[in-house]
Amino acid sequence: MPRLDQRRTPYFDVLQDYVTSGTIPFHTPGHKQGIGMHKRLRDFVGDNVLAIDLTQVGDLDDLNAPEPGGPIEQAHALAAQAWGADTTWFLVNGSTAGNQAMLMTALRPGDTVLLPRNSHKSATSALIMSAALPVYMQPEVDHELHLDHCVTPETVRHALDAHPEAKAVFITSPTYYGATADLAAIEKIAHERGALLLADEAWGPHLHFHPELPPSATSIGADVCVNSTHKLLGAMSQGSMIHTRGERVDLGRLRSTLRIFQSTSPNLVLLASLDVARMQMATEGKALLDRTLELARDARRRLNAIPGVYCMGTDQVGRPGIAGYDETRLVITVRDIGYTGYEAARILQHRYNVQVELADLFNIVALASIGTTRDHIDQLVAAIGELGREDRPIDIYAPTGVLEDRLKKRSYRTPPTPKLVVTPREAFVSDHVEVPFKQSAGRVCAEVITPYPPGIPIVCPGEQLTDEIIDYLRLELRAGVHIQGPVDEQLRTIRVLP
Ligand SMILES: Cc1ncc(COP(=O)(O)O)c(C=O)c1O
Repeated sequence: MPRLDQRRTPYFDVLQDYVTSGTIPFHTPGHKQGIGMHKRLRDFVGDNVLAIDLTQVGDLDDLNAPEPGGPIEQAHALAAQAWGADTTWFLVNGSTAGNQAMLMTALRPGDTVLLPRNSHKSATSALIMSAALPVYMQPEVDHELHLDHCVTPETVRHALDAHPEAKAVFITSPTYYGATADLAAIEKIAHERGALLLADEAWGPHLHFHPELPPSATSIGADVCVNSTHKLLGAMSQGSMIHTRGERVDLGRLRSTLRIFQSTSPNLVLLASLDVARMQMATEGKALLDRTLELARDARRRLNAIPGVYCMGTDQVGRPGIAGYDETRLVITVRDIGYTGYEAARILQHRYNVQVELADLFNIVALASIGTTRDHIDQLVAAIGELGREDRPIDIYAPTGVLEDRLKKRSYRTPPTPKLVVTPREAFVSDHVEVPFKQSAGRVCAEVITPYPPGIPIVCPGEQLTDEIIDYLRLELRAGVHIQGPVDEQLRTIRVLP
């Protein structure tokens, strides 16, 4: 394929042409380029964004069935070349739709898929829809910082030894905490055994554009990879991409699967933002990321100079499950200055007007990106510096003492992955009954139950509850750990199969 001119923005251009042509809009959306929208919102968001909030009529093409050679196909080809992929599609329902389409394309009912136990919930929903059989791989856990990283190549190899029938290996890399997997080694192992490598790279749309960042999934030959362009680059929320490489994936099937998960009325402003975000990264991505890395490295150095504060970085590379590290991620451990991550995040928000992306028991996660300024970094570092100077008793386990017991004596271990009795799909589509949680041992769970941190489900739909799981989760609740997933988050009751 000849090199394409990455300065072009074919999809954004057709939207602008539509506006300058002065076309009279007898089509959706009903606000007719802003005229019918209430002034309060129109005045705030501005006329131009509403003028290109159009629908797929005339020359504006169709995301679900792009015209051969038309503006969407051109924008997709430019994106594929920018990310080193063979084909790319724009997504308007985030990487959620990307993961669902990727897994649904690769798997048939009853097929085995290997995936990390801490996969994003979009992977769980894909298991429900595809009726595939999950074999969960344990990610590496840093017990000291109480957070989870990637699965190792050894874990993938063992899982494939035990399940040679697996059709696909699904890997999350980077994680929320910035660790990347050894994708090159995993690619070899998966392909040697005839399994597809599917990469959830929602947190890595920028990796491809800077040599000092870990290698991207497309560069190491993952068969399919999903990027949340909106999470760290210039696209608008929900704007993501799915990339493919090689011949192993049935592209026709992927195209028809995407039609199931995407609206027939995609937001065209979003599509334009994906087109322009690609142009921006292809033409100036390296320089933008030079600056981002410089700011993030400066922040990390200054944060690590605050007594009691730790901001992980490339020093962690080589530890289990951390083959590489995305230095733009600022995971700030506040435990030793006497705060839980939850408390620190609340104080940063209310006292310093600084909003972080994520908080857990010991850490907060701040994202540096191409939109981060030096002033933002200075404010974050100054706020953490002030927290560090406060005279706090170093006693974050105080309310119950349970956590201290569990974490310090290491006397309480996560229960083993429970037995899968029925597929996640069967568990989801069957009738459910609510029973007291305390008496649910032996029942087949209909819900996902995930304590945060570290965000690894203790039980998933279709798995059998045990006394060990019940004791463990009750202890977690007593310790004030957040439980996500069940309808009754206090776990007085649980939904199980009849
Ligand atoms: C690892 C991972 N995969 C997929 C997703 C879904 O991405 P999106 O929000 O773009 O739908 C997320 C969202 O946070 C995620 O953390």
